[in-house]
Amino acid sequence: MNPRRPRGSHRSYDPLSHLVFLRSQGEYVWDEQGRKYLDLICGYSACNLGHAHPRLTAAVCEQISELTWAHGGQSQLRSRLEETLGSLWDQNTPPGRKPHRYSKVWLTVSGARAIEIAWKLAYAKRPGSTIGFDLAYHGRSLASALLSDTERSEAFGPHGSIENHATIPFPRHLHGLCAPILMPDACNDASSNPQEAHAEKSPLCAECQRALEQASQTFEKLKSRASILFVEPAIGARGYYFAPAAFMQRLVALARSYDLAIVSDEIQMGLRRTGPMFLCKGQAWEPDLLVLGKSLGGGILPIPWPADWRSKHSKFSKRQISDPILNARGIFFVVCLAPICPNRL
Ligand SMILES: Cc1ncc(COP(=O)(O)O)c(C=O)c1O
Repeated sequence: MNPRRPRGSHRSYDPLSHLVFLRSQGEYVWDEQGRKYLDLICGYSACNLGHAHPRLTAAVCEQISELTWAHGGQSQLRSRLEETLGSLWDQNTPPGRKPHRYSKVWLTVSGARAIEIAWKLAYAKRPGSTIGFDLAYHGRSLASALLSDTERSEAFGPHGSIENHATIPFPRHLHGLCAPILMPDACNDASSNPQEAHAEKSPLCAECQRALEQASQTFEKLKSRASILFVEPAIGARGYYFAPAAFMQRLVALARSYDLAIVSDEIQMGLRRTGPMFLCKGQAWEPDLLVLGKSLGGGILPIPWPADWRSKHSKFSKRQISDPILNARGIFFVVCLAPICPNRL
């Protein structure tokens, strides 16, 4: 037990949990001894703009003094954020491809909840079991943990039944922080630019081929019983593994042939963490539902975005859109301002 840790505080799993930080600015944090640390963790991508950015802090303070919360959650600010997110999606469409028409954006209060909303959206369209990567991490709420690695789900006993969730292997050979730089050559992609890599042209390495074959067997075994595929195109919390574009394109094409709705969890690795604004677009494939979070709130407050792009999966009744299925309106306006502000920086 660390004597400096404030009484009653929960010990985190983090190896740095013995440190107590007092201050942060930009890329640095300071502990109570005044020691300065370069923060390469950045709140697991939540602080991609750095700590305590003066413009973000000023924007949040200004907003708090104007309007903190309003019933129903609707505001000019919220509309602006939704518009900004929609146009970001369009602007980041790879050259030569048509953007999908801007569909719907839901804003909510945690990544886990955003994943659950995406799950509900996909499930409401076509009920069925789920499939996900064996290395995936989708959050700590009961439902999102069930989609995460099996060890964690099993801890929930009968409620953690994974009967309705099948896993497929994530290719593990591109591992570590330098892997994205090595990605094209390491996997014999025909193109050094993932945006130009086309599923039918780019050869796959043996590891990706094996992972794809296992995915194909799983899809075939489950057939119409499965309806949703959750993908984390770059694995964050489970240790920085990267899937090549050609692998992801083929997996998505295969999943589509089984009519699976595809949910891309880019909560940690989206928003330029690996280069492209949206990892799926950078790899030239598109999901039915895209889930973002973490740095969308500027590292100040959580503001995940489970967005629904493809019309095929976005026709919901009024009842489905209202509580308790989809309602995610409990967000604070102050949260809205934080992600808008980075566009002005
Ligand atoms: C890929 C991924 N999905 C979901 C989550 C859950 O987000 P939150 O902690 O905001 O619930 C995380 C959090 O680290 C994550 O990295």
